[in-house]
Amino acid sequence: MLVECVQGEGGYRPAGRKFIKTVSKVSKKYGFPLIIDEIQSGLGRTGKWWSFQHYGITPDIMTSAKSLQVGATVASNKYDPNESGAVSSTWGGGHRIDMAVGLKMIEVIEKEKLLKNAEIVGKYTMKKLNELKEKYPTKISDIRGIGLMIGMEFFSKKYRDLVELNAFRCGLLTMGCGVKTLRIAPPLIINKDEIGQGLDVIEFCLKRC
Ligand SMILES: Cc1ncc(COP(=O)(O)O)c(C=O)c1O
Repeated sequence: MLVECVQGEGGYRPAGRKFIKTVSKVSKKYGFPLIIDEIQSGLGRTGKWWSFQHYGITPDIMTSAKSLQVGATVASNKYDPNESGAVSSTWGGGHRIDMAVGLKMIEVIEKEKLLKNAEIVGKYTMKKLNELKEKYPTKISDIRGIGLMIGMEFFSKKYRDLVELNAFRCGLLTMGCGVKTLRIAPPLIINKDEIGQGLDVIEFCLKRC
Protein backbone atom coordinates (compact mmCIF):
# COMPACT_ATOMS: atom_id res chain seq x y z
CA MET A 1 0.00 0.00 0.00
CA LEU A 2 1.32 3.38 -1.01
CA VAL A 3 0.45 6.33 1.22
CA GLU A 4 1.39 9.98 1.64
CA CYS A 5 1.38 11.08 5.30
CA VAL A 6 0.77 14.59 3.99
CA GLN A 7 -0.88 14.63 0.58
CA GLY A 8 0.88 16.82 -1.96
CA GLU A 9 -1.05 17.21 -5.20
CA GLY A 10 -4.16 15.99 -3.34
CA GLY A 11 -4.34 19.28 -1.41
CA TYR A 12 -1.67 19.52 1.29
CA ARG A 13 -3.73 17.38 3.59
CA PRO A 14 -2.13 15.67 6.61
CA ALA A 15 -3.45 12.17 7.28
CA GLY A 16 -4.98 11.45 10.68
CA ARG A 17 -2.66 9.76 13.18
CA LYS A 18 -5.11 6.91 13.73
CA PHE A 19 -5.35 6.24 9.97
CA ILE A 20 -1.58 5.95 9.50
CA LYS A 21 -1.15 3.87 12.66
CA THR A 22 -3.92 1.50 11.50
CA VAL A 23 -2.52 1.16 7.98
CA SER A 24 0.88 0.31 9.49
CA LYS A 25 -0.67 -2.26 11.84
CA VAL A 26 -2.75 -3.86 9.07
CA SER A 27 0.26 -4.05 6.69
CA LYS A 28 2.19 -5.97 9.37
CA LYS A 29 -0.75 -8.25 10.13
CA TYR A 30 -1.33 -9.25 6.49
CA GLY A 31 2.30 -9.02 5.39
CA PHE A 32 2.09 -6.42 2.62
CA PRO A 33 4.67 -3.63 2.42
CA LEU A 34 3.77 -0.14 3.51
CA ILE A 35 5.31 2.38 1.12
CA ILE A 36 5.42 5.99 2.29
CA ASP A 37 5.77 8.58 -0.44
CA GLU A 38 8.03 11.34 0.86
CA ILE A 39 8.54 13.02 -2.50
CA GLN A 40 6.92 16.28 -1.41
CA SER A 41 6.81 15.84 2.34
CA GLY A 42 10.36 14.59 2.91
CA LEU A 43 13.73 16.15 3.55
CA GLY A 44 12.66 18.49 6.30
CA ARG A 45 9.60 20.07 4.74
CA THR A 46 7.41 19.14 7.73
CA GLY A 47 10.02 19.95 10.39
CA LYS A 48 11.29 16.36 10.59
CA TRP A 49 13.43 14.59 8.02
CA TRP A 50 10.46 12.46 6.95
CA SER A 51 6.77 13.09 7.49
CA PHE A 52 6.17 9.52 8.79
CA GLN A 53 8.26 10.45 11.85
CA HIS A 54 5.32 12.56 13.05
CA TYR A 55 3.21 9.41 13.16
CA GLY A 56 5.45 7.03 15.11
CA ILE A 57 5.63 4.38 12.36
CA THR A 58 8.39 2.97 10.17
CA PRO A 59 7.57 2.19 6.53
CA ASP A 60 8.94 -0.86 4.70
CA ILE A 61 9.76 1.24 1.65
CA MET A 62 9.98 4.99 1.18
CA THR A 63 10.50 7.29 -1.74
CA SER A 64 12.24 10.64 -1.87
CA ALA A 65 12.93 13.14 -4.65
CA LYS A 66 12.42 16.83 -5.38
CA SER A 67 14.46 18.54 -2.59
CA LEU A 68 16.88 15.61 -2.67
CA GLN A 69 17.48 16.38 -6.39
CA VAL A 70 17.43 12.70 -7.27
CA GLY A 71 14.58 10.22 -7.19
CA ALA A 72 15.44 7.61 -4.55
CA THR A 73 13.71 4.53 -3.21
CA VAL A 74 14.84 3.03 0.08
CA ALA A 75 13.55 -0.39 1.12
CA SER A 76 14.09 -2.51 4.20
CA ASN A 77 16.44 -5.45 3.66
CA LYS A 78 13.50 -7.79 3.85
CA TYR A 79 12.15 -6.52 0.52
CA ASP A 80 15.38 -5.90 -1.27
CA PRO A 81 18.13 -8.09 0.26
CA ASN A 82 20.64 -7.43 -2.52
CA GLU A 83 20.32 -3.64 -2.65
CA SER A 84 21.33 -1.07 -0.07
CA GLY A 85 19.30 1.58 -1.89
CA ALA A 86 18.30 2.51 -5.39
CA VAL A 87 18.48 5.79 -7.21
CA SER A 88 16.17 6.14 -10.15
CA SER A 89 15.01 9.38 -11.53
CA THR A 90 12.16 11.17 -13.01
CA TRP A 91 12.10 13.96 -10.43
CA GLY A 92 15.69 15.07 -10.80
CA GLY A 93 18.37 14.18 -13.27
CA GLY A 94 20.13 11.65 -11.07
CA HIS A 95 23.60 12.42 -12.38
CA ARG A 96 26.64 13.19 -10.24
CA ILE A 97 25.97 16.92 -9.96
CA ASP A 98 22.42 16.24 -8.75
CA MET A 99 23.77 13.80 -6.18
CA ALA A 100 26.34 16.34 -4.98
CA VAL A 101 23.60 19.00 -4.68
CA GLY A 102 21.34 16.55 -2.81
CA LEU A 103 24.15 15.74 -0.38
CA LYS A 104 24.86 19.43 0.16
CA MET A 105 21.17 19.97 0.82
CA ILE A 106 21.31 17.41 3.65
CA GLU A 107 24.46 19.02 5.08
CA VAL A 108 22.95 22.51 5.02
CA ILE A 109 19.69 21.37 6.63
CA GLU A 110 21.74 19.83 9.43
CA LYS A 111 24.25 22.65 9.84
CA GLU A 112 21.73 25.47 9.74
CA LYS A 113 19.18 23.63 11.91
CA LEU A 114 16.50 23.99 9.27
CA LEU A 115 14.27 21.26 10.72
CA LYS A 116 13.82 23.43 13.82
CA ASN A 117 13.29 26.48 11.61
CA ALA A 118 10.59 24.69 9.60
CA GLU A 119 8.85 23.71 12.85
CA ILE A 120 9.01 27.19 14.43
CA VAL A 121 8.25 29.25 11.32
CA GLY A 122 5.61 26.68 10.29
CA LYS A 123 3.75 27.13 13.59
CA TYR A 124 3.99 30.91 13.24
CA THR A 125 2.66 30.74 9.66
CA MET A 126 -0.25 28.51 10.70
CA LYS A 127 -1.13 30.98 13.48
CA LYS A 128 -1.07 33.94 11.09
CA LEU A 129 -3.04 32.06 8.43
CA ASN A 130 -5.66 31.11 11.00
CA GLU A 131 -5.96 34.82 11.86
CA LEU A 132 -6.58 35.49 8.15
CA LYS A 133 -9.19 32.72 8.14
CA GLU A 134 -11.01 34.46 11.03
CA LYS A 135 -10.83 37.75 9.16
CA TYR A 136 -12.10 36.32 5.84
CA PRO A 137 -14.53 33.60 6.97
CA THR A 138 -16.44 33.57 3.68
CA LYS A 139 -13.34 33.00 1.58
CA ILE A 140 -10.97 30.72 3.52
CA SER A 141 -12.44 27.40 4.61
CA ASP A 142 -9.46 25.58 6.13
CA ILE A 143 -5.84 25.96 7.18
CA ARG A 144 -3.90 22.75 7.70
CA GLY A 145 -0.42 21.36 7.51
CA ILE A 146 2.72 20.32 9.31
CA GLY A 147 5.90 22.42 9.46
CA LEU A 148 6.31 24.37 6.23
CA MET A 149 3.90 22.19 4.25
CA ILE A 150 0.72 24.21 4.66
CA GLY A 151 -2.51 24.18 2.71
CA MET A 152 -4.87 27.15 2.62
CA GLU A 153 -8.23 25.97 1.35
CA PHE A 154 -10.81 28.34 -0.12
CA PHE A 155 -14.56 27.99 -0.38
CA SER A 156 -14.26 28.04 -4.16
CA LYS A 157 -11.69 27.35 -6.84
CA LYS A 158 -12.40 30.85 -8.18
CA TYR A 159 -11.06 32.51 -4.99
CA ARG A 160 -8.03 30.22 -4.95
CA ASP A 161 -7.17 30.91 -8.58
CA LEU A 162 -7.60 34.67 -8.15
CA VAL A 163 -5.35 34.80 -5.09
CA GLU A 164 -2.74 32.63 -6.83
CA LEU A 165 -2.76 34.79 -9.97
CA ASN A 166 -2.76 38.15 -8.20
CA ALA A 167 -0.09 37.06 -5.73
CA PHE A 168 2.06 36.12 -8.73
CA ARG A 169 1.45 39.58 -10.23
CA CYS A 170 2.70 41.03 -6.93
CA GLY A 171 5.83 38.87 -7.12
CA LEU A 172 4.78 36.08 -4.75
CA LEU A 173 4.94 32.61 -6.24
CA THR A 174 2.50 30.12 -4.74
CA MET A 175 0.88 27.12 -6.40
CA GLY A 176 -2.51 25.49 -6.29
CA CYS A 177 -3.08 21.89 -5.27
CA GLY A 178 -6.15 19.75 -4.77
CA VAL A 179 -9.29 21.43 -6.08
CA LYS A 180 -9.29 24.76 -4.26
CA THR A 181 -6.22 24.82 -2.04
CA LEU A 182 -3.19 27.08 -2.20
CA ARG A 183 0.05 25.47 -1.15
CA ILE A 184 2.33 27.42 1.15
CA ALA A 185 5.70 25.75 0.82
CA PRO A 186 8.45 28.33 1.24
CA PRO A 187 12.15 27.46 1.38
CA LEU A 188 13.22 26.01 4.73
CA ILE A 189 15.54 29.00 5.33
CA ILE A 190 12.63 31.45 5.47
CA ASN A 191 12.21 33.61 8.59
CA LYS A 192 9.18 35.15 10.26
CA ASP A 193 9.68 38.59 8.67
CA GLU A 194 9.77 37.10 5.18
CA ILE A 195 6.68 35.02 5.93
CA GLY A 196 5.02 38.25 7.10
CA GLN A 197 5.76 39.92 3.77
CA GLY A 198 4.27 36.98 1.89
CA LEU A 199 1.18 36.98 4.07
CA ASP A 200 0.71 40.73 3.48
CA VAL A 201 0.60 39.99 -0.26
CA ILE A 202 -1.90 37.17 0.28
CA GLU A 203 -4.11 39.46 2.37
CA PHE A 204 -3.90 42.20 -0.25
CA CYS A 205 -5.10 39.66 -2.85
CA LEU A 206 -7.80 38.27 -0.53
CA LYS A 207 -9.32 41.73 -0.10
CA ARG A 208 -9.65 42.05 -3.85
CA CYS A 209 -11.18 38.72 -4.76
C1 LIG B 1 4.05 13.12 -3.73
C2 LIG B 1 4.47 12.73 -5.14
N1 LIG B 1 4.71 11.44 -5.41
C3 LIG B 1 5.07 11.07 -6.65
C4 LIG B 1 5.21 11.98 -7.67
C5 LIG B 1 5.46 11.51 -9.06
O1 LIG B 1 6.70 11.23 -9.38
P1 LIG B 1 6.97 10.57 -10.84
O2 LIG B 1 6.87 11.70 -11.81
O3 LIG B 1 8.33 10.03 -10.69
O4 LIG B 1 5.93 9.54 -11.08
C6 LIG B 1 4.99 13.33 -7.42
C7 LIG B 1 5.11 14.32 -8.48
O5 LIG B 1 4.72 15.45 -8.38
C8 LIG B 1 4.60 13.71 -6.14
O6 LIG B 1 4.35 14.98 -5.87
